[in-house]
Amino acid sequence: MSKKEHKGLRAEKQTDALQRFGVSMNPRLLKRFDEFIATKGYVNRSEALRDLIRKNLVEIEWEKGDKESLGTLTIIYNHEVRELSDRLEDFQHAHYDNIISTMHVHLDKHNCLEVMVLRGMPGRIRSLADHIIGVKGVKHGKLVMTTMGTDID
Ligand code: NI
Repeated sequence: MSKKEHKGLRAEKQTDALQRFGVSMNPRLLKRFDEFIATKGYVNRSEALRDLIRKNLVEIEWEKGDKESLGTLTIIYNHEVRELSDRLEDFQHAHYDNIISTMHVHLDKHNCLEVMVLRGMPGRIRSLADHIIGVKGVKHGKLVMTTMGTDID
């Protein structure tokens, strides 16, 4: 093995070696993370964190796709927050070609749940969903990406 090859091999080994880094987190979030770890049966925080990172990277990769896809966006909000219901409805009308259906559930006197079906390119779906989740007063939102089903047997 030449000196150059040897050096290259060593560099590769270094890249594969585990690297440590510090993570700052408030105690409440850390407590919930530890509960999550216990529920899922991870052996330690590192393994759980690696899995979460991988999961997100896969999602990002998937969203780069150029095939028409579907997503369902679930949001929870308080309809008494000023102009929130109107803003959400205006947004849905403005993007009627991508937001193709909405189900509204009055959860209690104050809170509403809405499930929207979004259709379009993955990046477009993500960006519309992020916008809706980011609207002030939306308490929680989650997008589930799926496919048109044509490539799945
Ligand atoms: Ni409602």
